[in-house]
Amino acid sequence: MIQKSFVMMKPDAVQRRLMGKILARFEDKGLQIVACKLIQIDEDLAKTHYGEHAEKPFFPSLVEYITSSPCLAMVIQGEEAITTIRKLVGATNPLEADLGTIRGDFGMDTGRNIIHASDAPESAEREIALFFNEDEICDYKIIDNDLIY
Ligand code: TYD
Ligand code: MG
Repeated sequence: MIQKSFVMMKPDAVQRRLMGKILARFEDKGLQIVACKLIQIDEDLAKTHYGEHAEKPFFPSLVEYITSSPCLAMVIQGEEAITTIRKLVGATNPLEADLGTIRGDFGMDTGRNIIHASDAPESAEREIALFFNEDEICDYKIIDNDLIY
């Protein structure tokens, strides 16, 4: 099933100039970037996005980190995109993430773990709507998809 996922490079990825390398992993896999923008997240948006963690002890530091500098917000589309992207991203703690994953290769700390990706269809839908208007998502045909699927 073709799915859309919300993916966001966090401030550490932008500041460390890893955007190009990370973007290439999704493109190389055969996934399609259908929306992409650099965004300075404010406190309200950060708290809404991470609402499920509001009661966790790490919540204040998470909000502070995610609002500290711009993030690269994206919608990425493809066959089973939500699960596929979570696999490419790796475990939440970069020290536990397998090498070869984005967090495993680029990260050292759970509090600076490079990237966010939706974990289920419901969260993908919620997060995409939170960050993007319909008219910012491009429905365009990739002509070499016949070579991927
Ligand atoms: P979570 O949704 O559990 O992880 P994931 O990003 O893999 O879906 O947590 C959201 C973010 O909160 C996580 O990417 C980094 C941060 N976080 C901490 O700072 N400390 C923690 O102990 C945990 C579990 C998460
Ligand atoms: Mg999560």
